[in-house]
Formats: sequence, C-alpha cells, structure tokens
Amino acid sequence: MEKHTSELGFSPRVAYDGPVDASVPDAVSGHLLQVLGEGLSNIVRHAHASAAEVVVTVEGGRLSLLLADDGVGFGSGPSAGQGIRNMMKRASDLGGSCEVSQRSPSGTLLEWRVPI
Ligand SMILES: Nc1ncnc2c1ncn2[C@@H]1O[C@H](COP(=O)(O)OP(=O)(O)OP(=O)(O)O)[C@@H](O)[C@H]1O
Ligand SMILES: [Mg+2]
Repeated sequence: MEKHTSELGFSPRVAYDGPVDASVPDAVSGHLLQVLGEGLSNIVRHAHASAAEVVVTVEGGRLSLLLADDGVGFGSGPSAGQGIRNMMKRASDLGGSCEVSQRSPSGTLLEWRVPI
C-alpha cells in the first residue's frame, strides 16, 4: 500500500468493518492483498484519480473488498486485461464474485466478494 500511495500522489482512505483480522483465513488474505494491489495499480496507471477509497468488510460469513476512485472511469466499458481477469479468477476459485463498474458522475468501483 505504501508503494501505491507514493505512486498515486495521495493516500487512499481505508476503512475496515467487522472482524477482519480475526475472521479472514490466510488462504484468503493472500488473494485479498493481490486484488487490492492490482486495483491500486490500475488506479495509478489508468484512472487519473484525485482520491480513492478502500473498504474491507467482514459480515455474515462474507469478505468484501470495495475499491472506488474518482478518475476517468471506463467510458464504454472495461476491456479486461490480465489484471481484471486475474481478480475474477481469484474470486471464482473461492466461490465469490468480482464486478467492475462505472461510478456516477465519474470513476470506477471494484467489488470483490468471497465467502469465508
Ligand atoms: N481504476 C480504473 N480506472 C479507469 N480505467 C481502468 C481502471 N481499472 C482498469 N481500467 C481499464 O480496464 C482495462 C483493463 O484492466 P486490467 O487490469 O485488466 O489490464 P491492464 O491494467 O491494462 O493490464 P495488466 O494486464 O497489466 O493488468 C485497463 O486497460 C483500463 O483501460
Ligand atoms: Mg491492471
């Protein structure tokens, strides 16, 4: 995260909700960190954002990572490269889901959710 913060030029806002440390197994936290790293790297490389927010929530047997930025967004829809494909595969391997969508009025929202 420190690496990306210097590349972004701003610090993402980070919030945790629920027993994140206590309830996320090591097998899942590795994937979570990889997905967060790829999401931040995409913001650095593609978004031209001025702010980003990370929310990690554990609730009801589910872990969710939301990563929002206020950058340029996807326009006509994301053409997935390796990064997004990899996030989707990590989610489906764990029985979860991954969605990337356009925010209003601008920016991108990544939602990565897996059962724990
Ligand atoms: N936060 C974002 N804001 C704007 N566009 C984005 C964002 N994240 C991804 N994109 C768009 O989605 C495309 C696909 O992203 P993806 O991570 O799959 O591939 P990539 O970053 O281009 O290459 P790599 O395979 O190295 O990750 C990007 O090329 C970019 O156009
Ligand atoms: Mg990428």
